[in-house]
Amino acid sequence: MCGIVAAVTQRNIINFLLKSIQKLEYRGYDSSGLALINSNNHLIRIRSVGKVNELIKKTKNKKLFGKIGVAHTRWATHGRVSKENTHPHVSSHITIVHNGIINNSLELRLFLEKKGYIFNSDTDTEVIVHLIHWEQKKTGKSLLEAVYNSLIKLNGNYSMVIMDTNNISKLIAVCSGSPLVIGLGSKENFIASDQIALLNVTKRFIYLKEGDIAIIKPEKIKIFNKKYLIVNRKIIHSNLKYEHSKKGKYKYYMEKEIYEQPMSIENTIKNYLKNNTSIYFKKLGKKEKNIFLHLEHIQIVACGTSYHAAMVSKYWFESLANIPCDVEVASEFSSRKLVVRKKSYFITLSQSGETADTLIALRIAKKLNYLGNLAISNMPNSSLVQESDTFLLTHAGIEIGVASTKSFTTQLIVLLMLVTKIISIKQKKNQIEKKIIKILTILPNTIKNFFEKNKEIKNIAKKLSNKKNMLFLGRGIQYPIAMEGALKVKEISYIHAEAYPSGELKHGPLALIDSNMPVIIIAPKNSLIEKTKKNIQEIDARGGVIYILSDEEINISKNIKILKMPYIDEIVAPIFYIIPLQLLAYYIALSKGTNIDQPRNLAKSVTVE
Ligand code: AGP
Repeated sequence: MCGIVAAVTQRNIINFLLKSIQKLEYRGYDSSGLALINSNNHLIRIRSVGKVNELIKKTKNKKLFGKIGVAHTRWATHGRVSKENTHPHVSSHITIVHNGIINNSLELRLFLEKKGYIFNSDTDTEVIVHLIHWEQKKTGKSLLEAVYNSLIKLNGNYSMVIMDTNNISKLIAVCSGSPLVIGLGSKENFIASDQIALLNVTKRFIYLKEGDIAIIKPEKIKIFNKKYLIVNRKIIHSNLKYEHSKKGKYKYYMEKEIYEQPMSIENTIKNYLKNNTSIYFKKLGKKEKNIFLHLEHIQIVACGTSYHAAMVSKYWFESLANIPCDVEVASEFSSRKLVVRKKSYFITLSQSGETADTLIALRIAKKLNYLGNLAISNMPNSSLVQESDTFLLTHAGIEIGVASTKSFTTQLIVLLMLVTKIISIKQKKNQIEKKIIKILTILPNTIKNFFEKNKEIKNIAKKLSNKKNMLFLGRGIQYPIAMEGALKVKEISYIHAEAYPSGELKHGPLALIDSNMPVIIIAPKNSLIEKTKKNIQEIDARGGVIYILSDEEINISKNIKILKMPYIDEIVAPIFYIIPLQLLAYYIALSKGTNIDQPRNLAKSVTVE
């Protein structure tokens, strides 16, 4: 959460800072600010509450100029949303932008107040900048040493960029528990929390590693590791294009990302197919093959939408592969005493690969007796990927909308292919693999054709947009899909939506049913549909407003509206049935006029516990 960009160049960087920080708004959009050192070596700082657009307005007609500068978009943790709490923060000649949380900031603040520092904000960031200033004043040593000595006193996770009006040719970047990438230019260098902010200026990147401190000058970069030794970090050439981060013909990123799913699903499938006939995970070698052969249990940990994808895979692991699988929300996994099952393999799922709860769960799991661990992520250079034994990528492409869509369906693809591969390895035969490859190959087109139904979904959405509450029901493998549908509605339309297993309704929530309570029921034709029909009757008898997604003719009552779904193989039905729910949530939010890509109080990647 929070986005950082910074640059040290030979040209005016004001437009770069504004454009690039806007690209990081998905990381937080409570307030934003920037600081530049102008030609007179004076610091110019502009800050604004609200979206980056507000900051842009404030910079208009100001004729700002600076070759070195930092910018920040904030997701508030310490201190409410206000101009005073907005970054950059300043202590005399030192300026800082920071992402993360300092746990011992209160203690340090008291110490610094005793030394005479006056605080202008409630943030933990201002503590850091005063601490660095105090360290430098105390020792008279370089800014780098002052930064290093300050870091020793900080407890928490952070990435930050430090700028000094006494030395206008360099920036110092620090990375610990929150990502920072350096973008390499020609006689200019850049820093950001995510490479998408830098795609308009470079294709060459260096990802800082945990504990790294970098001195960044226009022509030179020096990186120290956590032991304060100079290190070389690999230069990565990105094949992402700036255009990938644009909305194109769509009104919102979320809309674009929903409609991109046939392509992202196809890309993901193709990436893991060999000669179109077998599943091949290049990243998984002999070691993993041996683990898959012997594992007797799978433990998956994730958050939010990724947690729902993991929940779906539990049904696949157990029903197709006969392997017991437990799935837990990451923050809960790290909040209790854990008992590791015999021969258990640990899997994390995360679109961003930066979710603090999931990372912490992985770090705990690494100290326990698991056979090994695997991360499934959309971000090849993320902390989760780097810290895991091995990883598989989802190939969804950049996902910018805060509400995850294409990352969910591509996670399901990778999980289903993984389950299938494990079955083949364990059974030493590949009939199931062949069958599932066939089913998967036709999925992208089925989704593409289904998009023609979007008018019908728009009409339902209009009817639901003024509701205060909604219920989503699913049975078996469709229960996590109901959970994901409810999460999408909650997140972007602020309607209170809950998901229940269809059979659980009569144990309490049935009391909520009346003519104001829409109930969305996911009921594909399968071995469970007769039971679900009984649940539908129970709701109908109590005057509930029912919408059913099904490929079966359900003639229970005239009051029930059915969104007729095409036939889809039961195995991939959860991947297909989430599509209408994503569209429904999107069109409800569109009718309500909420900010779909940047829903209130949220951020795309949650890097705090
Ligand atoms: C999804 O719509 C949410 N924005 C959120 O629940 C998200 O899935 C969760 O924070 C986990 O993110 P990750 O996949 O990047 O770890």
